[in-house]
Amino acid sequence: VDAIGLYYYHRPDPKVRYAEGIMALKDLLDEGVITLAGISNATIAQIDVARQILGDRLVAVQNQFSPFRSSLGELAHSAKLGIAFLPWSPLGGITRAGSMGSNRAFQDVAEAHGVSPQQVALAWELAQSPGVIPIPGSSRPASIEDSVKAVDLVLTDDELASLYTVSASVNA
Ligand SMILES: NC(=O)c1ccc[n+]([C@@H]2O[C@H](COP(=O)([O-])OP(=O)(O)OC[C@H]3O[C@@H](n4cnc5c(N)ncnc54)[C@H](OP(=O)(O)O)[C@@H]3O)[C@@H](O)[C@H]2O)c1
Repeated sequence: VDAIGLYYYHRPDPKVRYAEGIMALKDLLDEGVITLAGISNATIAQIDVARQILGDRLVAVQNQFSPFRSSLGELAHSAKLGIAFLPWSPLGGITRAGSMGSNRAFQDVAEAHGVSPQQVALAWELAQSPGVIPIPGSSRPASIEDSVKAVDLVLTDDELASLYTVSASVNA
């Protein structure tokens, strides 16, 4: 916890040199306490630092990514390195997940496939790269049952492009 009460739990601590924190992960790997490592809320430069220190024992990056919030550069970089990318708050978080349906483009694609706009958003994320694994939060079993179907939802190139444009404008 810092001086103004901000809690950095799963974010890089700005008071600690990034490489130093990653060295702690390396120690855990070397000691056999963990077998593989993932990092969260990392920039491209931080992914590179972690990769340099951990090599191919760095297997996952978990960053915020949804149609509302982009970490597209980090997603592409992870894909290039063969590292899994886990979008957190993949539906925009608890406060925005419901409003996916009020977005015309997501609603149109959802209606065309007879599925929920949230399922479309997850399918759009899965289509970004084979290494993308969204982790939607859910308190209702119905949400889980709906979200898991995104794995089998195939969107056309035109649909992906229309959703990409929406996402880009949301993030502009
Ligand atoms: N690494 C980090 O720094 C970090 C930070 C924040 C969060 N996270 C992780 O990210 C994960 C999810 O994030 P989140 O919960 O903040 O946001 P989210 O997954 O974007 O949104 C959760 C909301 O989406 C709703 N939802 C899920 N699937 C749905 C569906 N198919 N149809 C309609 N609504 C659906 C849920 O509703 P119901 O509850 O009604 O089912 C819930 O209100 C969690 O596992 C969390 O631990 C990581």
